[in-house]
Amino acid sequence: MSQIRAHYRGPLRGEIVIPPDKSISHRAIMLASLAQGESRVRNFLRAEDPLRTLEAFRQLGVEMKESSQQSELSSQDTDLIINGKGLDGFRGPGDKIFCGNSGTTMRLISGVLAGQEFSTTLTGDASLTQRPMKRIITPLSLMGALIESREEGYPPLIIKGSKLKPIRYDSPVASAQVKSAVLLAGLYCDGTTTVIEPGKSRDHTERMLESCGAAINIEGMEVSINGSKALNPLDITVPGDLSSAAFFMVAGLIVPDSELVLKNVGINPTRTGLIEILTLMGGQIQLENQREVSGEPVADIIVKHSPLKGIPVHGEQVLKAIDEFPALCIAAAKAEGTTRITGAQELRVKESDRIASMASELSKMDVAVEELEDGLIIEGRETLKPARLMSYGDHRIAMSMIIAGLTEKEETVVSDTDCVNTSFPGFMEMLKSVSSM
Ligand code: S3P
Repeated sequence: MSQIRAHYRGPLRGEIVIPPDKSISHRAIMLASLAQGESRVRNFLRAEDPLRTLEAFRQLGVEMKESSQQSELSSQDTDLIINGKGLDGFRGPGDKIFCGNSGTTMRLISGVLAGQEFSTTLTGDASLTQRPMKRIITPLSLMGALIESREEGYPPLIIKGSKLKPIRYDSPVASAQVKSAVLLAGLYCDGTTTVIEPGKSRDHTERMLESCGAAINIEGMEVSINGSKALNPLDITVPGDLSSAAFFMVAGLIVPDSELVLKNVGINPTRTGLIEILTLMGGQIQLENQREVSGEPVADIIVKHSPLKGIPVHGEQVLKAIDEFPALCIAAAKAEGTTRITGAQELRVKESDRIASMASELSKMDVAVEELEDGLIIEGRETLKPARLMSYGDHRIAMSMIIAGLTEKEETVVSDTDCVNTSFPGFMEMLKSVSSM
């Protein structure tokens, strides 16, 4: 188990190209596999999570090859050519599909497997097998799939696919994974499948389905798809991941005299909560060179060290920054005053219980934190006490704690950091490239 030492090494300065978006990389593999014919996916994220999706679809018989020269294992991105099988061309996987740490792989692929003629067992690592799957089992069962799980809906899942029927599903949780699983299953139905969400979750699936020619309709919180229609192949360039840029945004704001240019970052409006929150906290963040890449808005982000102040964070902002909460907590810990985050109960069921993880690690740095059922109250401090911290095997906790260590001269040690490879294999190299020493 590796550990990383972090301490103040002077300002962070320079330009970095943010690695590809994880959510979009997963979906690119899935939709290209479901499409009829050859798709091209440029700038696919070569990190553990999306590679689980890639391997899963290979197991289902999809041929994929890397088309670029940069395909050595250390590279964070690659280009792929994928020979789609169409909706009904998959073969049984032969063995269990191991989804590793990836909730997106397990929840989204379940929607596809629900419509197959074969059975599949999905399993995962210690974290994933403790994450709730009832949220997808319920709608997919209503559509006609037979899904067995451990008690209370925990993985492994055994999915016995069948002919599916369309549903109108009022989801109790605003979750892109639930919405996507139902929409993908909807591809296998005759008629219209509708998902209604209590809040607008990320909409990458809808955007990509539309570009594949699917009959999809969006009205406010309601998304509908008409099934039984072949998908056209994709030609997509995956933008940089705002969730990866988040660590550099916060680092740039809290490390004195820093100025960073984060190039090629996806700024889909369902994902920009952190930019909005940090700006309200007083952070100097500019978006430049705004453009559209493969149906997704993209920009270069410039961040400059800024004094931050604590604010209340709740409602829609939380949903739009759901994966950025650990990084946000570090900004709050360095802000003047109180940051009160509420309405974030979903954080309890991420790769770790992120409310508990952040509360325990920040208190080791002498930050006054109060844990709420659905959030945290953080009293900012001028200095964070260097400490020995844990990642809880959660990539985003690990990277956040490393960033927290960058503000003091004495060393902070973060243990169990291999998990960073889940989403951001080159994180430390990128951080070093903008460090002064
Ligand atoms: C994701 C959706 C979100 C997010 C996760 C990735 C996706 O999860 O937290 O990291 O790619 O669809 P929920 O759907 O559970 O909100």
